[in-house]
Amino acid sequence: MYKEKILNLLRSSCSGFVSGEELARTCGISRTMVWKHIKSLEREGFGIEAVPSQGYKIASLPDILRQGDIKRGLGTRVIGKTVRLLSEVASTNTLAMELAANGAPEGTVVIAETQTGGKGRLGRKWISPKGNLYLSVVLRPKIPMHKAPLITLMGAVASASAIKTTCGLEAGIKWPNDILLSGRKVSGLLTEMSAEQDRIRHIVLGIGVDVNMEMGELPPEVRGLTTTLAAETGAKINRTVLLQQLLRDLERRYRKFLKNDADILEEWKQLDLTIGNRVTVSGAGERVEGLAQGVDNEGRLIVRLEDGTSRTVAAGDVTIIKE
Ligand code: BTN
Repeated sequence: MYKEKILNLLRSSCSGFVSGEELARTCGISRTMVWKHIKSLEREGFGIEAVPSQGYKIASLPDILRQGDIKRGLGTRVIGKTVRLLSEVASTNTLAMELAANGAPEGTVVIAETQTGGKGRLGRKWISPKGNLYLSVVLRPKIPMHKAPLITLMGAVASASAIKTTCGLEAGIKWPNDILLSGRKVSGLLTEMSAEQDRIRHIVLGIGVDVNMEMGELPPEVRGLTTTLAAETGAKINRTVLLQQLLRDLERRYRKFLKNDADILEEWKQLDLTIGNRVTVSGAGERVEGLAQGVDNEGRLIVRLEDGTSRTVAAGDVTIIKE
């Protein structure tokens, strides 16, 4: 608590410097305690300059997410009201599913700096080095189960929107939920659900965004298919700002979705890169090839086959065939 207060005082000082005496007086602690908290901030990665007659000053900020920074000015009512921030976890989705099963409130967000067992769609791994965003959100929507896939589309729309607001980049969505920039994947979503009969107990919406990682962290076979926000903008991205925007965008879309799910589909279509293209869709042991015609009101892809018949696909990997 005092450490957070000292940090805020240093951040809001006009000259940058605040004397040890003033920090001690404002916090109501001894100068030795101030010094201990300064050392602790340094261990977290803050560069702190100490000048004898002037005091302490923040010289450099660490690229780490901090609970206080995420919450400050977030302004959401549900999404992010409870935040669980970890430096490392197997998978934020797995932890969020466990927390949800144990009663975590709607809107609980689990965030990790790195994942050791990050999960992708269709049983794949999601390589999760430091520098990116990995988060999972607990949702408890009172909707029929067949509408659950729309939650993923909603998450994709919110991610694309947060990327646009924060980085000024126009991202597109490849069905169902790959966020692409210049044809390369920058973000992916994985939704997991717990249900009984036709009632949803909870849904966990997992989002991974490639933000500042070094491309060398990825296996060579996926490097050419992937990009990061830093690579696209040419500058390092403030992950806290992006994360806050993403949580705000999610909250706005989620409210809208609960009132009228058709609105989300409309917005999704504006960002879609799939419809109107020849595609192959593979997954669940089968491969479908044809013209992507549209999505139905449950978010399934409608593909017109060579023989003129249509197939509706609920899950799979889409490859757009360039003609
Ligand atoms: C995909 O495109 O295959 C989906 C990737 C989803 C990755 C995110 S990262 C946060 C959350 N935790 C996980 O283990 N997976 C999701």
